[in-house]
Amino acid sequence: MLARAINAESVVEVGTGAGVSGAALLSGMSDTGVLTSIDNEAEIQRLARETLGDLGFDHIRARLITGRALDVLPRLTESAYDLVFIDGDRTEYPAALTLAKRLLRVGGLIAFDNLLTDGSIADPASRNPEAVALRDVAHALRDDDHWVPALLTVGAGLLVAIKIAD
Ligand SMILES: C[S@@+](CC[C@H](N)C(=O)[O-])C[C@H]1O[C@@H](n2cnc3c(N)ncnc32)[C@H](O)[C@@H]1O
Repeated sequence: MLARAINAESVVEVGTGAGVSGAALLSGMSDTGVLTSIDNEAEIQRLARETLGDLGFDHIRARLITGRALDVLPRLTESAYDLVFIDGDRTEYPAALTLAKRLLRVGGLIAFDNLLTDGSIADPASRNPEAVALRDVAHALRDDDHWVPALLTVGAGLLVAIKIAD
């Protein structure tokens, strides 16, 4: 729905996984849109490629890059993307936000999956690294005038934001 709302042409995904979110993103994007999806597990990406093919998506629309997100994101083109969807290592969400901000055009969207997970983000006593990182990324979006954020209660919580300025 988010990809369709902005007729996304170029999308970056962190965490290819089984290709479930990739298929949803491609379905919403423009027919000529290209999804760039990053995962550090080559075998998982091989299976996702098969799944996307089985679902009828042309292979040229899915650019799957094997590597660690924080190594690959800095190599992508600045201001070239309409939407960045983050669904990888949650402890890396704050660093991914910093890198994704460079990639998005003004008016583009960022979305972080599983913000609420087990609910530990809402417990100030919880200091586990995931809870701290999730809290940090939510605070970073809230406190930065370049973003207009919202937390959607979809699944385990989807934190979305529009980039309103460079
Ligand atoms: C929750 S799964 C993604 C599910 C996928 N979005 C879907 O809907 O099918 C998380 C994925 O992130 C990948 N991952 C974990 N840490 C990563 C990292 N540092 N860089 C890139 N990918 C990573 C894992 O290999 C895993 O496939």
